[in-house]
Amino acid sequence: MLLSMVQASKHSNCELILALDLPTKAEALQCLDDLGDSVRWVKIGLQLFTLCGPELVREIADRGYQIFLDLKLHDIPNTVAKAVESICQLPVDLLTLHASGGAEMLGWAAKARDSENPSLRLLAVTVLTSMDGAGLQSIGVNAAPQEQVERLAALSLEAGIDGLVCSPLELAVLRKRFGPSPLIVTPGIRPTGAAANEQKRIMTPEDARQLGASMIVVGRPILASADPRSAALSIRTTLETETV
Ligand code: C5P
Repeated sequence: MLLSMVQASKHSNCELILALDLPTKAEALQCLDDLGDSVRWVKIGLQLFTLCGPELVREIADRGYQIFLDLKLHDIPNTVAKAVESICQLPVDLLTLHASGGAEMLGWAAKARDSENPSLRLLAVTVLTSMDGAGLQSIGVNAAPQEQVERLAALSLEAGIDGLVCSPLELAVLRKRFGPSPLIVTPGIRPTGAAANEQKRIMTPEDARQLGASMIVVGRPILASADPRSAALSIRTTLETETV
């Protein structure tokens, strides 16, 4: 059924990104020693970046990995643009911002990127998956989560942002509305049989690919595996398998 829904994207590439959610630099580097070339992309989030900063970003990039810096920037336009200018000096390929910062903030970020490092791609986070309808209402947003996701996605893409981070359950709707061009990156991925942990709305790597994910983010199913390298390679194999 999934196949018939997104015929256009069924042969498209889908990259695996490792979420390097570890508490220390030593553990992060040991993990990459163990994984070697079984992953190409590494997501560095707030936990490691606030501890180790740009130095670790450079060290991981020097090992040949592509870097997704997941800082979810959200501030006044000038401050975000200056932060983007700083990040443009680092070997970072993908960077996240909060779409709820608004069109002006997103536009300034895109402009800073254009002038400092046009190869950096910007991704907007729309509604955090930890927010439900009641959570949105509590901050004065009366739209349903799906409606708000679509509104913020449209606003982001119009402001010059390259793509979106979304739940796998939003993939079909976003691809239908925005077509094949935007980069769509999705966490909440669990290979068949893997523990869900606290993730509630999950999907397998192959289903996410078939629904149009450009990239999937996977943390614990690789990090907590007895054999992380095999776990990563097995996910990549599923992503590369042609489905007809
Ligand atoms: O370990 P797991 O595969 O659940 O990790 C998923 C990664 O994706 C984590 O770094 C998490 O912060 C991130 N993420 C998420 N859900 C979102 C946005 C980001 O799980 N809605």
